[in-house]
Amino acid sequence: MLQKVHDGKTRTVLVAGGAGFVGSHLCDALLLRGDRVICVDSFLTGSKINVQPLENHPRFRLIEQDVCHFSDIDEPVHQVYNLACAASPPSYQADPVHTMMTCVAGTGNLLALAESHNASFLQASTSEVYGDPEEHPQREDYRGNVSCTGPRACYDEGKRAAEALCFDMLRTGRTDARVVRIFNTYGPRMQPNDGRIISNLLVQALSGDPLTIYGNGEQTRSFCFVTDLVAGLMALMDVEPNPGAPVNIGNPGEFTINELAAMIQTMVAGGSGIVYRPLPKDDPQRRRPDIARARELLDWEPKVPLSQGLQQTADYFASVLIESEQRATPSRARPHPGPTDALQIGA
Ligand SMILES: NC(=O)c1ccc[n+]([C@@H]2O[C@H](COP(=O)([O-])OP(=O)(O)OC[C@H]3O[C@@H](n4cnc5c(N)ncnc54)[C@H](O)[C@@H]3O)[C@@H](O)[C@H]2O)c1
Repeated sequence: MLQKVHDGKTRTVLVAGGAGFVGSHLCDALLLRGDRVICVDSFLTGSKINVQPLENHPRFRLIEQDVCHFSDIDEPVHQVYNLACAASPPSYQADPVHTMMTCVAGTGNLLALAESHNASFLQASTSEVYGDPEEHPQREDYRGNVSCTGPRACYDEGKRAAEALCFDMLRTGRTDARVVRIFNTYGPRMQPNDGRIISNLLVQALSGDPLTIYGNGEQTRSFCFVTDLVAGLMALMDVEPNPGAPVNIGNPGEFTINELAAMIQTMVAGGSGIVYRPLPKDDPQRRRPDIARARELLDWEPKVPLSQGLQQTADYFASVLIESEQRATPSRARPHPGPTDALQIGA
């Protein structure tokens, strides 16, 4: 029961949220491995640009669909990754009811699809299920400190409910469900305006604007590069037997926001100072994963150091900003600018 044996033929993998930041990197990696990939996305926060290079790939299929209304698909599916959900506070708070429904109804629909196809299922949960944690670092058996009525509840509690659904489906023998708790992840293809700390600070620095820090900047975060995360997701989906428990995936290196800002200021010369603003409600003070379980069960650990990943992400945002500046000023058509031009945008 629930034991999936891959028969060596092409595996078909459905990636809900596959046009998003993480999802598009996952689609790339699955295609590279030889799988057939079906990306299901409503483009709420994701972008067609992220999957444009895959459009003509013979093993890639794109379905524009909200998972809250998704029921079945007209071909066999062997694995289902559920990454569909707005992930940054401004985007998940823009329509909090839809965020909650995506987590609960959307996950329920995809679990039912996995059940009917006898497919394995991986739910992208989050370190937000630990809320503002009172234990540090966070192990998977820590139950969290979450407000169920605050402005982050649509996401935090939605993801907790989605986890409960997954483990109910697993316990009752209906779906081979796995749950990953993802800690802050960054890299190319993040939206420049999605309100997450690394994209905020890099875009501000590249634009020559002061860096905005909420609170006193002494709160900590741990940052995982996206290729490390994707390797962890695939390892958890494929490991046998099913661990039957959530697994943290993240980078345990812990940095204060002030330290992060200083690294970015050094990396992107031309920034202009720091402004401090009040901390938003329910913002966690400390975040750092305990990844002992991932190390033991998946033989996984992150490989990309923050300095290296930040540089790649800065290069990506520089090219995005240059493109958008060129689109905004078509009459001043100019040759493709060098990296130094990126530092002058918005200055
Ligand atoms: N990036 C991180 O640091 C991080 C941390 C913890 C958890 N996660 C989780 O990982 C997943 C991917 O995050 P991301 O950073 O790539 O975010 P993202 O916003 O870039 O990607 C989410 C994707 O889901 C799609 N989507 C949202 N609601 C949908 C719906 N109802 N139906 C269909 N598609 C829908 C969006 O259009 C987008 O393409 C999310 O579930 C998120 O909660 C991410």
